Amino acid sequence: MKVLIVGSGGREHAIAMSVAKSSKVDKIYCAPGNAGIGQIAECVPIGAMEFDKLVAFAKETAIDLTIIGMDDPLVGGVVDAFEAEGLRVFGPNKAAAILEGSKAFSKDLMKKYNIPTAAYENFDNPEAALAYLETAKMPIVLKADGLALGKGVLICNTLEEAKAGVQEIMMDKKFGSAGNQMVVEEFMTGREVSVLSYVDGKTIKIMSSAQDHKRAKDGDQGLNTGGMGTFSPSPFYTKEVDDFCQKYIFQPTVDAMAAEGRPFKGIIFFGLMITEDGPKVLEYNARFGDPEAQVVLPRMKNDIIEVMEACIDGTLDQIDLQFEDNAAVCVVLASDGYPVSYQKGFEIKGLENFEDKDGYYCFHAGSKLNDEGKIVTNGGRVLGITAKGADLKEARANAYKATEWIDFENKYMRHDIGKAIDEA
Ligand code: AMP
Ligand code: GLY
Repeated sequence: MKVLIVGSGGREHAIAMSVAKSSKVDKIYCAPGNAGIGQIAECVPIGAMEFDKLVAFAKETAIDLTIIGMDDPLVGGVVDAFEAEGLRVFGPNKAAAILEGSKAFSKDLMKKYNIPTAAYENFDNPEAALAYLETAKMPIVLKADGLALGKGVLICNTLEEAKAGVQEIMMDKKFGSAGNQMVVEEFMTGREVSVLSYVDGKTIKIMSSAQDHKRAKDGDQGLNTGGMGTFSPSPFYTKEVDDFCQKYIFQPTVDAMAAEGRPFKGIIFFGLMITEDGPKVLEYNARFGDPEAQVVLPRMKNDIIEVMEACIDGTLDQIDLQFEDNAAVCVVLASDGYPVSYQKGFEIKGLENFEDKDGYYCFHAGSKLNDEGKIVTNGGRVLGITAKGADLKEARANAYKATEWIDFENKYMRHDIGKAIDEA
């Protein structure tokens, strides 16, 4: 089989590594990919939003299966473009990807189908939002409706902050058209857990749980980022929590999408908050998390191609999804200054230390091969260093040990990834 993966981050590197393990696969392409992905796949210089070029490449190259890693092309309808040409593609179509593409849609869906989530109101005009906020309880959460690189969520402690937030999102359009509508949501407290799942339109199979660390600095300080590290499984995702989510959140979401005439095929990523009143949905994503994929996929026992094909064919009920009984931790090595401003182009040294080391992975996110044939930093998040261990503590120690094998000039990381597990 020939497989094309669309995307260029650590998540796509983790997907590519899983695909490379499949006995069904002879050749992997990635558009546009990065320097690390280039070691196991042929990178093709086509952007993830260039649908016509992607479709043309898949046809010319006789690609058997295309896997879409990123949210933007999914929400933009890349799956529809492939399906219109009779090409096999893994991911939700545009009608289903709205689950991630519009927070107003997803909140209304949850309300309509009684799926537990924070209380909220949707607004499409700033005056009405401002009037509502005058009497609302603080803190409160403002969310730009559309995709905003994970940055369109503001947690406001005071009315003044909330008013400034409405100005930013709806009036100044800091997140562009994503702010044409805005959700105002009750602030919840509790443990956050990410649960990724495979879905075939009707059946859902849950992967091992994970937790992300979104803030840039130790102790959950600093700005929100794409994610500075993850661990899997989450000790806070207990059997009791799982039973509740299976009954009230996972299958009900899949059934709700089908009932709306938007059957979902692909990955649903449930961002959950385990509150005192039970688990509630913070958000849905229509793809693997980044860097959740980097801790979940290395622990998956199944052939990923078999699982993805079952999602496309509607036969996921026949798959016995299994994960290793161990743990993994991923520590992101970033460029100092991320997510605001940072330098790039520094040589990454020590990559060879990961060769032939079982249970250790160096997933590339922002790297590229320069004109001299050297692998250099090329983004805010540069690498995701994942290690497995018998349990979370061992995995964490292994991951931090492996971060020392790599060096580049402005290397930055958090030192407390997975620290919360000490409280479990
Ligand atoms: P989202 O993109 O919706 O996941 O929001 C990004 C982050 O903001 C989440 O991971 C939470 O840490 C936080 N967040 C979002 N919604 C809420 C909420 N209603 N209450 C508390 N924190 C929230
Ligand atoms: N790590 C969070 C996300 O991928 O949205």
